Amino acid sequence: MSNVNKKYTDDELKGMSNEELATLGTELDDVTVAFRKERFPIAGDPAEKRAARGINIWLVISVISALAFLGIYIFWPWEFKVHGEEGLIWHNLYTPLLGLTAGIAITALGIAVVQFVKKLMPEEISVQRRHDGPSDEVDRRTLTALLNDSWKTSTLGRRKTMQGLLGGAAVLFGLVVVAPLGGMIKDPWRKRHDLNYMGDGTLWTSGWTLHEKGVKLYLARDTGTIAEFHEGESGSHYTTQGVSRLVRVRPEDLAAGGMETVFPLAASDVNDGDLYDPQKDVYENHMHSIHGNRNAVMLIRLRHQDAQKAIEREGQEDFHYGDYYAYSKICTHIGCPTSLYEAQTNRILCPCHQSQFDALHYGKPVFGPAARALPQLPITVDEEGYLVAQGNFIEPVGPAFWERKS
Ligand code: FES
Repeated sequence: MSNVNKKYTDDELKGMSNEELATLGTELDDVTVAFRKERFPIAGDPAEKRAARGINIWLVISVISALAFLGIYIFWPWEFKVHGEEGLIWHNLYTPLLGLTAGIAITALGIAVVQFVKKLMPEEISVQRRHDGPSDEVDRRTLTALLNDSWKTSTLGRRKTMQGLLGGAAVLFGLVVVAPLGGMIKDPWRKRHDLNYMGDGTLWTSGWTLHEKGVKLYLARDTGTIAEFHEGESGSHYTTQGVSRLVRVRPEDLAAGGMETVFPLAASDVNDGDLYDPQKDVYENHMHSIHGNRNAVMLIRLRHQDAQKAIEREGQEDFHYGDYYAYSKICTHIGCPTSLYEAQTNRILCPCHQSQFDALHYGKPVFGPAARALPQLPITVDEEGYLVAQGNFIEPVGPAFWERKS
């Protein structure tokens, strides 16, 4: 006789065994167990042991891979190396090894779980009718009992080794997912290398900071020139000798209402104009300047009548050279290149989230999510007529962080 319609008191429920509650639960849920068969009805079946051993092997593989991932993540030489630098091969292996070990850890864990369900849990086909509305107390109790029952019927409760391995593999896999977040924790004050075109590794330095060390820095445009390909006696190779990627800019190179992206070029790396030497090889240094992530600057030549209306920020009154203004190209929102300059409105637009900055108003944000002005680079023209930096940025470039004052 079905118990479905019977109302149960608290005491009656408390008096029922887990098995009775589980059976009641299936009935209350309108579940009909159509078929159920133990995988290994006879205890100590060698086939069962073989199946369990196979699953344990997958779990051991998962644990070892997760440990390898964590070991590589923490101890592998991950610091960026440029082409030709010692240790480049090890650095190049870092990401593939992380991917490989994390992949094996999750794949092996997945295979172990699937094998466990297929080989050790009882085969069962159950059918349930759909219910509407919230569950009452009896349902909640019986569901707990059903979960307890599944734990028992899963046979996991008596497989201590597998329990440990499964728990270990799950915890380690959790660490594989969480540990990489640790890479976001960085000491912002730690210098990672000597000051060069890339800054010194801190957030407030860039190639323009070299000016503070007495280096004369030209504003240079990227010509896009690439190294030349040669077939020689010793085989094919590229030569960078005499190839000048960055060239100096003069004010007259830019039309009124125009904008040009420029990068810092140290006097010692100049190889253009009257200083051109076909034997000189400055290509690599030029590429470092272009790749320096806070180096890009927008050189804007305002229309003369607009420039008369420009408002300078206090302390930056002499940062411009006539109608020429140089603003960092790195958006103060989250660092996209603010590449679009509209001469009609004198607005600089960042295409990522549509922040707009007013070029007539010291790069102040006038629309969108950016809250800080684009840092302005002090510029002038040297005795030979080339545009040069008059100093470094006086505030950190790019998105806001705690070191910023403005
Ligand atoms: S990065 Fe420029 S608006 Fe978001």
